[in-house]
Amino acid sequence: MNEPAPAPKESVPTRRSFFGVLVGSISTVVGALMAVPLLRFALHPLFDSTSGTDWFPLGSPEEFGGADPVRAEVSFRKTDGWRVSQVKQTVWVTHDSSGQLRVLSGTCPHLGCVAVWRDDQKSFVCPCHKGTFAKDGERLAGPPPRGLDPLPVKVEGGKLWVKYQYFRQLVAQREVVG
Ligand code: FES
Repeated sequence: MNEPAPAPKESVPTRRSFFGVLVGSISTVVGALMAVPLLRFALHPLFDSTSGTDWFPLGSPEEFGGADPVRAEVSFRKTDGWRVSQVKQTVWVTHDSSGQLRVLSGTCPHLGCVAVWRDDQKSFVCPCHKGTFAKDGERLAGPPPRGLDPLPVKVEGGKLWVKYQYFRQLVAQREVVG
C-alpha cells in the first residue's frame, strides 16, 4: 500500500525576509526620488528655447537718418542646449514705409545666412541663395519664405535700443524661438 504524499510545507514569512522587502522598497523609492532632479538637469536643455538676448544700445537715432540702411552688431552670451557661447549678430537699422526707424535681424529666414545691403540694387541680398528683400525688410524674391524679421526697438536715454531675437527659419509665419 502506498504511503500518502507529504503535505506541502507552508512558507512562513521570516523576520529576515520582511526586512529584505522593506529595505528593497525604501531603496526603490529613494532611487526614484534622486532620479527626478537628475533627469530634469539632463533633459531641460532639450526643451528649453535658445536664450541669452537682451536690449542693446545702437547709438543716437540721429545717426541713422540717412537714406540707406546701416549695419550694426550685437554681441552676447547664447545658451543653446548644453552649449554656451559668445555670439555676434548682424542687425540693420533702416526705415519702414512711413519713415519710422526699424531694426531688422540680418539673419535670412531661409537658412540663416546674413543678408547684406547692396547699394547698387537698393535692396538686401542674401549671398547664399540670392533671396532679396526691400529696404523695409519685405521679401522681394528668392527662396526665403518671408521678409527679414523686425526686432523690438525703443528710444531711451537719447539712444536707440534693440532687443535681439531668434526666429524660426523656413516658415512663412514669423515665430520667435529665443
Ligand atoms: Fe538666404 Fe537661402 S539662406 S536665401
